[in-house]
Amino acid sequence: MALLELKNIYKTYKQGEFDVHALQNISLSLDTGEFAALVGPSGSGKTTLLNIIGCLDSASSGSFHLNGNDLTQAKESDLSNYRLFQIGFVFQAYNLVPVLSALENVELIMVLQGRHHKERRERAEHYLKLVGLQDMMHRRPKALSGGQQQRVAVARALATNPRIVLADEPTANLDSENATALLDVMHELSHEEKTTFLFSTHDLRVMQRAERIITLSDGQIQKDETNPAAVA
Ligand SMILES: Nc1ncnc2c1ncn2[C@@H]1O[C@H](COP(=O)(O)OP(=O)(O)O)[C@@H](O)[C@H]1O
Ligand SMILES: [Mg+2]
Repeated sequence: MALLELKNIYKTYKQGEFDVHALQNISLSLDTGEFAALVGPSGSGKTTLLNIIGCLDSASSGSFHLNGNDLTQAKESDLSNYRLFQIGFVFQAYNLVPVLSALENVELIMVLQGRHHKERRERAEHYLKLVGLQDMMHRRPKALSGGQQQRVAVARALATNPRIVLADEPTANLDSENATALLDVMHELSHEEKTTFLFSTHDLRVMQRAERIITLSDGQIQKDETNPAAVA
């Protein structure tokens, strides 16, 4: 069974007296370990789709299964549990807590998960090493570059042991060298940890590093293809 299965997903926003059809008839499945990009112009529905998959928003209709569980009609309390234990988030603006060190930032969600102090510390150190920040663990975000802050965010997402990492335009605030370097780190971790990644981008160099490219246009999937150049 696929890790993620969306069937006939529609999302309609009401804007005054108008309906905005943000997603129309999206069917999509993703297997464990896939490294996939969601691409499309601004307004094509990328964020809306990632928010539904991330249990941050719900679809207007259609069905959604994650890891074999039907989340279509799930209660908010169940959804927040899914967000905490099954999904890792990487945001465009990094979203690190400014007064905490890199290490403490990575530990924070594991506190909410109820992990023991020692395990938290070990996991945080492990993932910060994997993203190449072993010498900067005690720095606060403002003492790190944008690329380094986003690496902290990737470590934070992976340290929670999620089924899937969702990243909405994770490289939008990075120059192209840092953007491709971040993608290379994510790609390597996806293989090593067998973690599924789904990230949105409209940066050509970034999308070319994805093993699968799903193209959205006006809320519909226009193309869904493997990218032989990126498959190791
Ligand atoms: N909260 C909202 N209320 C009304 N319309 C929205 C809302 N969020 C997104 N939209 C509309 O839905 C469509 C898809 O938006 P979005 O998912 O943000 O696209 P993308 O991330 O690809 O730029 C756009 O037309 C956008 O204006
Ligand atoms: Mg968006």
